[in-house]
Amino acid sequence: MTGAPNSSGTSQQSWSQFHNVLGLSSLTRRLDILRRNYLNHRFDRRSPLPLIQDDLLTRIYSVEVSFPPRRYLMLPGTQTIDGLFFLASLAVAMEAKSVFEIGTFTGVSTWTLARNVPAAVVHTLDIPPSDIPSWDLDVDDVHRGSQEGLVYPHLPSSGNIVQHWADSATFDFSPFYDSIDLVYVDGAHSEDYVRSDSENASRMSSDNGVVVWDDYWRLSPGVVKVLHERAGLGLVRVPGTRLVVHMPEGAKAKIRTP
Ligand SMILES: C[S@@+](CC[C@H](N)C(=O)[O-])C[C@H]1O[C@@H](n2cnc3c(N)ncnc32)[C@H](O)[C@@H]1O
Repeated sequence: MTGAPNSSGTSQQSWSQFHNVLGLSSLTRRLDILRRNYLNHRFDRRSPLPLIQDDLLTRIYSVEVSFPPRRYLMLPGTQTIDGLFFLASLAVAMEAKSVFEIGTFTGVSTWTLARNVPAAVVHTLDIPPSDIPSWDLDVDDVHRGSQEGLVYPHLPSSGNIVQHWADSATFDFSPFYDSIDLVYVDGAHSEDYVRSDSENASRMSSDNGVVVWDDYWRLSPGVVKVLHERAGLGLVRVPGTRLVVHMPEGAKAKIRTP
């Protein structure tokens, strides 16, 4: 079957076959991967946020962590395996007793945190599927959480998870002020949302509490802008992830040498 002729008289399909025979589509794909890698690398090189200190990272990664079944990992919109590894290791290493995640989605990170720090209460907040967000979203904010999409009800050891359904723009965070050891900011990615979620994260942080943000990369300008404004607070990047961490000295000191 041939395709409809295009304006130059050749068919779309015969051109794409010719293109494939020459290996041009695979070459185009590889060039595109190279281009994206280059842009990511340039973003990292130009970032005003330094990498987390090697010795601190070694101490964080020296703990043992558990992971969910493979089928729940690396689904579009969820945290990467390297990111999850860091979050779980951090929660264990700092012996977190309370966690607050903004942006549940499937709850795979929620479960991983709850599983690895069973003594902690893990709060997680997502906007109800039928709600219209109060503020503009980022173009990449395409994933929405829902009760039916949650994975943790189907997994063991998720007893300490408290699910909240509300828009983070209007949710009352005040009952959690000064009480959360680990706050994970991963909700809507527009500047307004990231700024507001970050302010709430800071208010919720306990003494020596740690805040982690996801999606610090070139295609999330709202996250980048808000975190660059906060660079003076000593934010650091986690290699191999899009995570940025604010960790006070007291929290670092609590992470023991293995
Ligand atoms: C990138 S996903 C979160 C991924 C998850 N934290 C993980 O680690 O796998 C972003 C989530 O933020 C939620 N979200 C978007 N806007 C929100 C809002 N205004 N308030 C609360 N959650 C929101 C979306 O419904 C979506 O589930």
